[in-house]
Amino acid sequence: MSKILVTTPIPAPGMEILAAAGEVEVLELDYDRLAERCASGEYSVVVSQLRDRFDAALLGSARITGISNYAVGFDNIDIDAATARGITVANTPGVLTSSTADIAMLLILSTARRVIEADHFVRSGAFTGWEPELLLGSDVSGQVLGLAGFGRIARATARRALGFGMTVKFCPRPPSDREVTESELGEFVGRVEHVSWDELVTTSDFLSLHVPLSESTRHLVDAEVLWAMKNSAILINTARGPIVDEAELVRALRERVIAGAGLDVYEEEPALTPGLAGLPNTVLLPHVGSATVSVRSEMARLCAENAAAMANGAVPPHPVDP
Ligand code: DGY
Repeated sequence: MSKILVTTPIPAPGMEILAAAGEVEVLELDYDRLAERCASGEYSVVVSQLRDRFDAALLGSARITGISNYAVGFDNIDIDAATARGITVANTPGVLTSSTADIAMLLILSTARRVIEADHFVRSGAFTGWEPELLLGSDVSGQVLGLAGFGRIARATARRALGFGMTVKFCPRPPSDREVTESELGEFVGRVEHVSWDELVTTSDFLSLHVPLSESTRHLVDAEVLWAMKNSAILINTARGPIVDEAELVRALRERVIAGAGLDVYEEEPALTPGLAGLPNTVLLPHVGSATVSVRSEMARLCAENAAAMANGAVPPHPVDP
């Protein structure tokens, strides 16, 4: 019977599928121990988390046939190194699109309307009655939402933003550009505007990031981009922390170069760049884009089905394209 290494238990529907597919061993491991276990030849498949780093060094000595990542993102895995070693990598696409877009919209609304400050204000006992100029924020209706990327989550965010009366612009593959056909745009023809990265950066009231982390998107939002944004603009990141140069973001927020930031992910996650937590013009969430009961169960099902298929020597339902 195939042996499956699980680095952190996933929700029950997934664990049940795994138990039916092979012998399951749950071991929470640091990098060195994970490398050791992967090289042992004991396991066919590893069910991994975003915090498990599968770099070229680890994969070079790994004797496994598959990695099923409990996430849609897979920037924790060196796909080229896995492919070179004949290791298939699978992920959980599709099921967390709506929940992540909800969090992007929530960050847009809560930064615009100063929700965290308002909540602290009430809890501290400072609320003494309605005031004409108490905690004034900005509207979202009529404002420009700029989407960096135009994949599933960006499109779901666009749908929500259009419902709130926002103008939506997008740049599909920043920092470079590429053509987008009408058929790719589908329901969005005539409703969203395709612009260059420069135009997106300089004209957005809210700039929301929806690109995968890669060498071309690492520090996509650097000092140059932050300083080119409107002073009234707000940066939203539900994608991956290292897409933003967080030290420069802290500087830009302190110096009021931009007005605020809503973040669900961090450059050195779970650590925060010094200074970030003390800034009032930020809303900071602990990477909860996919954190609903039903979404995490669906992710567990997909992840386990991927692992079960690979443990049986089959192609997983959701392989990552090498
Ligand atoms: C993912 O799946 O990539 C999210 O970041 C966590 O659910």
